[in-house]
Amino acid sequence: MPSALPEGEPAPEDGALPEAALVELGQRPFGVYVHVPFCTVRCGYCDFNTYTVADLGTAGGVAGASRMTYAGAAVAELALARRVLGRPVPVETVFFGGGTPTLLSPADLGAVLAAIDAELGLAPGAEVTTEANPDSVTEADLVALREAGFTRISFGMQSSVDHVLAVLDRTHDPARVPEVVAWARAAGFDQVSLDLIYGTPGESLADWEASLEAALACRPDHVSAYSLIVEDGTALARRVRRGELPMPDDDDLADKYALADERLTGAGLGWYEVSNWARDEAARCRHNLLYWTGADWWGVGPGAHSHVAGVRWWNVRHPAAYAERIAAGRSPAHGRELLDAETRRVERVLLELRLREGLPLAVLSETERAAVPDQVERGLAAVEGDRLVLTERGRLLADGVVRQLL
Ligand SMILES: C[S@@+](CC[C@H](N)C(=O)[O-])C[C@H]1O[C@@H](n2cnc3c(N)ncnc32)[C@H](O)[C@@H]1O
Ligand code: SF4
Repeated sequence: MPSALPEGEPAPEDGALPEAALVELGQRPFGVYVHVPFCTVRCGYCDFNTYTVADLGTAGGVAGASRMTYAGAAVAELALARRVLGRPVPVETVFFGGGTPTLLSPADLGAVLAAIDAELGLAPGAEVTTEANPDSVTEADLVALREAGFTRISFGMQSSVDHVLAVLDRTHDPARVPEVVAWARAAGFDQVSLDLIYGTPGESLADWEASLEAALACRPDHVSAYSLIVEDGTALARRVRRGELPMPDDDDLADKYALADERLTGAGLGWYEVSNWARDEAARCRHNLLYWTGADWWGVGPGAHSHVAGVRWWNVRHPAAYAERIAAGRSPAHGRELLDAETRRVERVLLELRLREGLPLAVLSETERAAVPDQVERGLAAVEGDRLVLTERGRLLADGVVRQLL
């Protein structure tokens, strides 16, 4: 959940969608994202829409705006989703993200999942993921989450090296990661994923190698590895601006990406999106693929974004504002955009070019297609059948490749 919301037109009070969008419902896979906007502490690098108890202050007393009462507000938004969509829509994927979803009790997370099923209907074999911080789950929580219907868990590992975790303000003991992964396996989760971050100031190549090795020793089904982004307005950005920490260096990031790809591939995890690797096709995150392929989803919670058939909307950001709207029976949607065909096409280029499957060449305009041979000659992309696929060098420079094409 990025911190800045786009400018758009005001969303209707009742959250109603244009008839043309409702007609298209069900033509693409449908997912539900549930944003849980709470964290114990705010990590210095993170600009997600999340709040500590201190951040919430007295606003945490508004019913629905605190960890204890939030599940009820989320369940109420799901009832609204059912009214707006007008009928059940088989939900192929559910993703609880944050924030720290596991700061809610397994019973509350299970209640929100049950409401998704009751209001919209979970499709058979639905993928149900929650993010979890290694220091905010117990063995009993994982058993309860599995019993409630969660099938996939993604742990925020970030690094296995103490001094790197300290710069990131991460509070967990790295030894906890293999332990929580073992608990998740014993609880019967189908898929276990680990999130890593590379390029933290002070992280050497050997540190990054150690983190990759530690992650692989847990035998995850899936790994996401993101380069550290210094987001404006974060404590990390202030420390970099004051000269206390260096800005991540592009060459160092490139070396670390190449090392990640080599180690992860060597351990049997293949890339399927620039920053994501999976053991096999079944281990790919179907929910994220739904975003990357322009499918439809409803985002529940403060600041959550939704998309149905070219209509994109976003909720008010603050948990108290969100809870007050829900309690008043109003839609929490704050703004929306109606995407025209050209905007949707450009978004396809931006997202699908990052996928292993690549971008169908037919999506490119004639002028854009004329730029393809140059990208191929420079070793950044390859034409595979009727698709354009990034090479490893191209993956390092994915944004640049897109800029050259568009
Ligand atoms: C917002 S977190 C939510 C999950 C959980 N709270 C956690 O931190 O592990 C999702 C993932 O986003 C990534 N992330 C957040 N901020 C980032 C940043 N500034 N640069 C790179 N990755 C970031 C981290 O890898 C994190 O695991
Ligand atoms: S725990 Fe995750 S969501 Fe919370 S502040 Fe840290 S990175 Fe952000």
